[in-house]
Amino acid sequence: MKHRMVYLTLTVMYLLLLSCSKRQAAEMAPTPPVTPEKPETAVTYTNFAQALFQTKCGGCHSAGRGAAAIWTFNGLASITTNQSRIRQAVLVNKSMPLGRTLSAEELKSLQEWFDKNMPE
Ligand code: HEC
Repeated sequence: MKHRMVYLTLTVMYLLLLSCSKRQAAEMAPTPPVTPEKPETAVTYTNFAQALFQTKCGGCHSAGRGAAAIWTFNGLASITTNQSRIRQAVLVNKSMPLGRTLSAEELKSLQEWFDKNMPE
């Protein structure tokens, strides 16, 4: 009985170690060069969406702000996990940003970013 516990513990530790080193290996692997078809128009979180959400939504939807309880913007994951609500509010109903409107250019880029599955 005791032996079985020891064996089980060792197995679990081994698996934990294995997953850690695998993850590290993945992190150390060189990132493949990015060659977008049209680099000048490729919309990403870093070059477009982040600033848009920060400036057009963050005033009400960041931590401590009025509409934070409804949706809090705090990075890419806060968008990917709420994408259908955000798409609906901004692109379909156009009820957000509240009291303002996005430019046609911003809407187009945002639509494209969502359609490309929110690249980082
Ligand atoms: C001036 C403040 C303000 C700004 C700016 C603002 N919101 Fe909101 N937002 C609200 C309030 C208040 C609500 C809740 C009431 C409502 O739905 O009208 C809300 C609701 C929402 C909801 C929930 C809608 C639902 O029914 O699920 C989403 C998603 C949302 N906002 C996203 C955004 C996004 C994305 C932006 C930026 C493009 C944005 N908001 C900009 C104040 C704001």
